[in-house]
Amino acid sequence: MNVGTTIIKSRHSVRSFKPTPVEDHIIRDVLECARHAPTAMNHQPWLIGVVREKSLLKEIAGLTDHGKFIADAALCFTIFGERDEKYYLEDCCAATENIIIALQSYGIGSCWVAGDKKPYAGAVRTLLKVPEKYTLVSLLPAGYPADIALMKKKDLDEVTFFETYEGG
Ligand SMILES: Cc1cc2nc3c(=O)[nH]c(=O)nc-3n(C[C@H](O)[C@H](O)[C@H](O)COP(=O)(O)O)c2cc1C
Repeated sequence: MNVGTTIIKSRHSVRSFKPTPVEDHIIRDVLECARHAPTAMNHQPWLIGVVREKSLLKEIAGLTDHGKFIADAALCFTIFGERDEKYYLEDCCAATENIIIALQSYGIGSCWVAGDKKPYAGAVRTLLKVPEKYTLVSLLPAGYPADIALMKKKDLDEVTFFETYEGG
């Protein structure tokens, strides 16, 4: 059994959280994992916030269309990218996924909530007093899971090919 791939395959989005706080040493380790993500030309064009205050969580939740459950999360990671960096989106998505997997390794659930392309991206940035050179890429509410929904995945053969594509 491979611990890394087992953690990756056991992950599911979690939108229902226990009120238990997430320990500081875990938050710190997860942030370390975020900053170890690959970035184009190693520019690391990101700024990652950790929101734990209930009032702020509620305000962020209220700005989103499909992220109302952020209000009940123990915390929310907010991933911002430097908008003038060519690959900020790819880089910040890599950091986001690192955070998700690191959380999963501690038994903490999370759910990627869209930020980039959303009309509320600017309002979240303003609320958190983040400088204008950054733009919101993703929101990651997290906490110990109260409930987990299992989504069906496409079959491996349907979405992969080796060498050249022979499908119809
Ligand atoms: C870019 C992106 C944006 C997403 N935005 C939302 C969102 O706004 N609200 C939400 O509840 N889930 C959101 N999700 C989570 C997806 O709905 C979820 O990953 C998908 O249904 C598959 O389920 P799984 O994560 O359990 O495998 C988003 C995921 C990605 C990758």
